Amino acid sequence: MPLLLSAQDPAAIEQAAQRLAAGSLVGMPTETVYGLAADADNASAVHRIFEAKGRPSDHPLIVHLAHDGAAHSWRAGVHHYARELPAFAQALMQAFWPGPLTLILPRRHDVAATAAGGQDSVGLRCPSHPVAQALLVAAAAHGVHGVAAPSANRFGRVSPTTAAHVAEEFEQLPEDALLVLDGGACPVGIESTIVDATRAWPVLLRPGMITPAQLEAACGQPVRSRDEAAPRASGTLESHYAPSAQVRLMDAQPLQAALDLLGPDARHIAVYARSPLKVARGVTLRRMPDDAGQAAQELFATLRELDATGVRLIWVETPPPGAGWDGVRDRLQRAAA
Ligand code: TXA
Ligand code: MG
Repeated sequence: MPLLLSAQDPAAIEQAAQRLAAGSLVGMPTETVYGLAADADNASAVHRIFEAKGRPSDHPLIVHLAHDGAAHSWRAGVHHYARELPAFAQALMQAFWPGPLTLILPRRHDVAATAAGGQDSVGLRCPSHPVAQALLVAAAAHGVHGVAAPSANRFGRVSPTTAAHVAEEFEQLPEDALLVLDGGACPVGIESTIVDATRAWPVLLRPGMITPAQLEAACGQPVRSRDEAAPRASGTLESHYAPSAQVRLMDAQPLQAALDLLGPDARHIAVYARSPLKVARGVTLRRMPDDAGQAAQELFATLRELDATGVRLIWVETPPPGAGWDGVRDRLQRAAA
């Protein structure tokens, strides 16, 4: 089992920072989801991430940057990894960093090639979670410029939003191979919004809780949606974030009709819906919050919890229209694919 330590203990943060500097893996809480972190400039440490996740090594990782407003600024991190910084990208960083936004930038050719999965670009993010920042700043003091961290789940599975989820995903790793910092439940709950900034205009690669309208207001440019020329992102694979049970998305009415058709033995089904539905005895029913932010915050934990009941099917009410729900809708569609 991995070593699980409370992030409230400053000694645990320092121990985790030393592990990063030594090339070992750390489970890091961020405001979005937990990341599986390693020194982005240490190729063998980054290999350990790909190996532990079972992720193909040509799928690029996001590099996380320290920011304490003083000795360690994300500006230095951006300068270390990116060879160009378009004005619109700078405006987006200014507006949303530290926070749940990732920017894909042209990469300096001598850095983080393994973390970038061989791409000519690098994904950069400055997280706002106080534990992530404490860890990044402590690691920077040991010479770590940035920390590569994909979501801390095995490839294709549901992202972790608690330290216990991370320990569960990597239970086969011994204490000396993985230290997980327990920083509680992640407040945002779904992964960062990703914007490609390798071309002359911003392109949305992965929806998150920062909406296109917010991005456009901050950078004064229209944000295009992804097209064939856009770089590949594994979070954008059609099937991703999948629990073991089969997820199906339905509007409230067909969902109720399907429930009405069920025989008396419906214990293999779980339901996650905003609308008040009538379910047969034995059906596990969880209510989805009406607020998109709250729904995002608990989405992955709920999918895990329903999955753990051993049901074969999870029926989910389709989220309402509106950009605020884009991130949640996107993750559910991929879980259902
Ligand atoms: O909120 C988040 O972004 C979380 C936390 C831990 O920071 N991280 C996360 O990482 O979701 P991951 O690896 O699960 O997803 C990162 C996505 C992938 O879809 C990857 O393909 C894309 O970012 N990505 C990273 N670098 C890229 C690059 N240079 N070009 C294109 N896509 C990139
Ligand atoms: Mg992921």
